[in-house]
Amino acid sequence: MSYYVTTAIDYVNGRPHLGHAYEKIAADMIARHQRLLLGPGDVFYLTGTDEHGAKIEKVAREAGVSPAAWCDEKAAQFKEAWELLGVAPDRFIRTTDADHEAMVQRIFSRLLQQGDIAKARYEGWYCRSCEEFKLERDMAEDRHCPVHGTPTEWQSEENYVFLVSRYKERVRAWLESDARPLEPDWRCRETLNLLEGFPDVSVSRQSLKWGVPVAEDPDHVIYVWIDALSNYLSGIGYMRDEALFQYWWPADLHLVGKDITKFHAIIWPALLLALDLPLPRKVYAHGWVLVGQEKMSKSTGVVVDPVTMAREYGADALRYYLLREIVFGKDGEFTQEAFENRVNADLANNFGNALHRMLTFAERHFEMRVARPQDLPAEVSALAAAAAAARDAHREAMGRLALHEALGAVWGLLDETNLFIDRMAPWALAKAGDLALLQQVLWGVFESLRVAAIMASSAIPGLALKLWEQLGPGQELASARWEDTVFDGTPDRTFALVRTGPVYPRIGVAAAKGAKA
Ligand code: MSP
Repeated sequence: MSYYVTTAIDYVNGRPHLGHAYEKIAADMIARHQRLLLGPGDVFYLTGTDEHGAKIEKVAREAGVSPAAWCDEKAAQFKEAWELLGVAPDRFIRTTDADHEAMVQRIFSRLLQQGDIAKARYEGWYCRSCEEFKLERDMAEDRHCPVHGTPTEWQSEENYVFLVSRYKERVRAWLESDARPLEPDWRCRETLNLLEGFPDVSVSRQSLKWGVPVAEDPDHVIYVWIDALSNYLSGIGYMRDEALFQYWWPADLHLVGKDITKFHAIIWPALLLALDLPLPRKVYAHGWVLVGQEKMSKSTGVVVDPVTMAREYGADALRYYLLREIVFGKDGEFTQEAFENRVNADLANNFGNALHRMLTFAERHFEMRVARPQDLPAEVSALAAAAAAARDAHREAMGRLALHEALGAVWGLLDETNLFIDRMAPWALAKAGDLALLQQVLWGVFESLRVAAIMASSAIPGLALKLWEQLGPGQELASARWEDTVFDGTPDRTFALVRTGPVYPRIGVAAAKGAKA
């Protein structure tokens, strides 16, 4: 069993913004969850940057640097941002990587030889920000781009054209198949409608220099989308390392934003069919993160900087907010107030709170070592049942990519654990000197937190580790696998507790300031 997950590769015309970060974080959570299930060696997470094209050429020129120098600087910023955010891909691919460029030329040549690509005059209205010709029916008023609101430009060129029409029916059959390869399902319906009048696509540009040249006709460079989409193949060694490629392909999941669904659910499968390659198991189109109702993008000027957020509040606070607050698949809003409320309620109060409520008793009565008691009372069995239910719910939700629900299940268990503490009132047990029951209660709480920490670790790896290290469950978190999320699944586990301070301190609250005023 292997699992191969990819994200869209980002244009490098600006710095990474919250929308880019959202997608990479979501894919990172999925990859980490799969590593729990399958082991780290059997999961491959690919992300990177999309560096060619008119848009990049233009911003580099305006900045007075070469496109290559511009891209080096930007790609480094993206890489750094992902490191800071705990996003851990197995490869960060750049479309300017030599192995990728070589493969793109070979793919193009093959399609040309096969007659899937043909030379033709291609005219139309072009949006530089989308890097796409627009049909009349898709444009806003005055032939403006409906996504960017900027005017499209008339282009008329001798072009190479990819004959999507040859594969349309097979793409339709794939989209309609029981495997439901495109989700959410409303996106699939939308895409099937689009397929109806879908034109053949121009796949080369003559007016552009910054791109991969067509080997047979070096005046032309290969269209950015063909160059970009095929990163999913070069990233795992297509035409370079056959064994490696066979191991990972087909992709289990292409995670992309809703705005680029058609590229991934029409052009991409058509291209793969032309190359005689199996189609991906799933394309999932997530929604947008909006700030004040607007999609973030360099072109519209609305940008929230994920790097600043992570520096100020910690990567995991941002990760948690995005993954928990936004219904995965739908659009969601970012507001500072909702962020602070969510983080204070769920991370500062709930996550780690149970531990801190119990550490005092562990210190006072058990010298920070709480061994598994011989017997566990019915109340602890009830907590074990809650942990088992949370485990099932978490896994099931992850299987549907309902990332927000998967986290809801874990936080449900944390709620149960806090309620258990209230019910068992360890302070009263300590006072009454009932150390046997106190030990059972503490052990139950720690075991429940251990299970929660493993499940939470795919979303908030840093904070999960912080909790884990204070629990001291006698295992490295990095070596934990899905089997370890069974409550009391390992005989005689002893918790060797360490106190290092709150897992996540409260952050300054815009809401509270508002309340005071
Ligand atoms: N380079 C192309 C993708 C090529 S994939 C073979 C591209 N780049 S992009 O930088 O414009 O967008 C990269 C990803 O970020 C896309 O999946 C896009 O949907 C996503 N997002 C950009 N802004 C976003 C939000 N505001 N919210 C969520 N995701 C959004 O398209």
